[in-house]
Amino acid sequence: MQLAKRLSKIEEPQTIKMAKLSRELKAQGKDIIDLSLGEPDFRTPQHIVEAAIQAMQDGFTKYPPVAGFPDLRLAITEKFKRDNHLEYTPDQVMVGTGAKQCLANAILSIIDDGDEVIIPAPFWVTYADLVKLADGIVVQVNGTFQHDFKISASELEQAITSKTKLFIFSSPCNPTGSIYSFEELKALAEVFERHPNIYIISDEIYEYINFEGPHESIAQFESIRDRVIIINGLSKGFAMTGWRLGYMAGPKNIITACEKIQSQFTSGPNSITQKAAVAALKGDMQPTLDMKESFRERRDYLVQALSNIPGLKVNMPPGAFYVFPDITHFLNKGDIQSAEDLCMYLLDKGGVSCVTGDAFGDPHCIRISYATSLDLLKEAVKRLEQAFAAIY
Ligand SMILES: Cc1ncc(COP(=O)(O)O)c(C=O)c1O
Repeated sequence: MQLAKRLSKIEEPQTIKMAKLSRELKAQGKDIIDLSLGEPDFRTPQHIVEAAIQAMQDGFTKYPPVAGFPDLRLAITEKFKRDNHLEYTPDQVMVGTGAKQCLANAILSIIDDGDEVIIPAPFWVTYADLVKLADGIVVQVNGTFQHDFKISASELEQAITSKTKLFIFSSPCNPTGSIYSFEELKALAEVFERHPNIYIISDEIYEYINFEGPHESIAQFESIRDRVIIINGLSKGFAMTGWRLGYMAGPKNIITACEKIQSQFTSGPNSITQKAAVAALKGDMQPTLDMKESFRERRDYLVQALSNIPGLKVNMPPGAFYVFPDITHFLNKGDIQSAEDLCMYLLDKGGVSCVTGDAFGDPHCIRISYATSLDLLKEAVKRLEQAFAAIY
C-alpha cells in the first residue's frame, strides 16, 4: 500500500528531529545540553495558570467556537489596539492550535497549485513546507550575514512575478533574531503597494522578545493593510508552548476562510487554554518583561562568548532567542562537509545540540537557541569551545 504523494513534499522539521535525537541520547544516559528547541525554559506565569484552573472549575470543558470564545476574540482586538495601535473588529481575528495552525490556515486559504510564495531566507522551517503542502512554489530570497539576514525592497521587487501570490516573513525572525525597522518595513510596503495582488503574512510571534525598541508591524501601513495577515501566539512571550494557542488578524474574508478550514481540521483550540489566553492578553505583562530581560542577559553573554571562538562569525540578534552564527570556516575540514555534519559533530563530541542552517534555508549557518539557563549556557560554551578548537 502506497501512502499519499504529498508526504514526499515535506519533511519532519530539523528542529524537532534534533530535539528528538537529544531526548533519545539523554534517555541513554548521555549528558546532552539541548540548544535546538525554540522553547522558553520558564514556567507559565501564575495568574494564567490560575485562570485555566478557574475555567475548568467553571465548566469550560465543552467544544468552544471554532474561531474562539467571544471574550478572547475581543481581548485579541484590545491587545492589537494597546500594543500595536491597530484597529480590528472581533470578526477580523481568530485563534488556532498554535501559531502553526494559524499559518497553515492562512496558507491553505490563499495558495493554489503553482502560485509563487516569496520567503526571505533564513526563514522558519515550517513556512516552506506548508507552501509545498498547498502545491505552491517557494521562491527563496537570500538575506546575507552582512545585512543582518534581511532583504531589501529592491531584492523583494526583483523576486516578484505575475504568479506571486504571497510573501511570508517573521520579525523578530526565527532563526536569526533580526528585526525589520520601521523604515525597512515601509520600503517593503511601498513595493507591495505597486503589486496589489500579493498577500503578506507577517509572523510576529516574537513580538515581546525585542531588545531594541517598540515592535513594528507591517500592518501599520494603511495602503496594504487589507492584505496583511498577522500571525501571533502565546508560546514565546508567555512561556506557553504546551498550551497551544495562536491567533491571527487580517481581512474578514481571509479569517472566514481560515475558520472554514480549521472547522474541518481541528475545530476551536482547547477551551481551557482559551480562557487562560484571556488572562494572558489582558493581565500583568511584568512576567513577560522579566523573561525578556533574562533573554537579554543570556544573549549578551552568549554572543560575546561565541565571538571569541576563532572562526565563528556571530552577529548581534536584536530579538527572539537565537544566535545564528556563520560556520563556513569549519566546512570541508575532516569529516565536516556541511552544517548538518557540524551539528552532528557538536552533538557527538561536545554533547551540545544545535540545528543546521539548511533547515532554515541557509547552509552556512547553525542555529543556537539560548532559551535555557545561564548556567547551562556557560557549560555549553565550554564544550563548544573545545569541540570547535578540535576541528583545526
Ligand atoms: C517564527 C515562528 N512562528 C510560529 C511558531 C509556532 O508557534 P506555536 O507554538 O504558536 O505553534 C514558531 C515556533 O517555533 C516560530 O518560531
